Amino acid sequence: MTQCYLNGEFLALDQAKISVLDRGFLLGDGVYEVIPAYHGKLFRLQDHLKRLQNSLHGIRLKNPLSTEQWSDVLQKLVNQNNPEEDQSVYLQVTRGVAKRDHAFPENTAATVFAMSNPIKYPTPDVIQNGVAAITLQDNRWLRCHIKAIALLPNVLLRQQAVDEGVDEAILLRDGLVTEGAASNVFVVKNNTICTPPQSPDLLPGITRDVVLELARSNDLYIHECPISEAELITADEIWLSSSTKEVLAVTELNKKKVGDGKPGAVWKTISSLYKAYKEKL
Ligand SMILES: Cc1ncc(COP(=O)(O)O)c(C=O)c1O
Repeated sequence: MTQCYLNGEFLALDQAKISVLDRGFLLGDGVYEVIPAYHGKLFRLQDHLKRLQNSLHGIRLKNPLSTEQWSDVLQKLVNQNNPEEDQSVYLQVTRGVAKRDHAFPENTAATVFAMSNPIKYPTPDVIQNGVAAITLQDNRWLRCHIKAIALLPNVLLRQQAVDEGVDEAILLRDGLVTEGAASNVFVVKNNTICTPPQSPDLLPGITRDVVLELARSNDLYIHECPISEAELITADEIWLSSSTKEVLAVTELNKKKVGDGKPGAVWKTISSLYKAYKEKL
């Protein structure tokens, strides 16, 4: 049985229990992170912990663990599961257990939970052929840079994509691309790569950072710039990035081919740079 961590204890996942009064359960009052571990090594751990700190700051919740404590807990969790297999570590911090009230409780300990599961990578066929997406209006709140556990809008948007037989929803706010329901978005036009700049409208993806770094250090043209709906629709290439998808080409948007309907040349370059980067770790 998968081992998990709950409030200072390592235990089997099916033994982990929380109160029904937990504010994460009742109010969605908490934040989370997803961190890949490759061959037992947590990928960009410090960046994930920094983003966690920013999310906690965003919801005015004190970080219950120090960086060292987080590193220790998460590494132990990876080691107790199968470190040979690539894993995806999920952690969440909620504002704890208290009588139900929207206002913050006083002197309540945060609930800290983490679990680790094998990464479910896209299949080689999906990687080679790319995925389909639709555009939808971004109807989420205005603080999407916080990795909040309250994901109902993302859930509904992603399900709308699934109901329409595609893999992801690419979101538009005021005519501009923000991100995917569970990914960041890049477009390529005339060999120039573009991704929306960081703002409260989108999550500062760790994979997005890796793509920016790899592109810049390999002399690819990459900019952080607003992307209009028209620019998205006429792009030569569209990519999605996330910790578990890595960089995936979108080859069909709103039932129309993107470029020639196959992952493009620039995607091939970035994808092999990503692979080489991972292997070097
Ligand atoms: C809304 C959203 N944007 C972007 C991302 C990508 O972030 P990362 O690259 O850190 O996984 C995710 C990841 O799940 C996400 O849920």
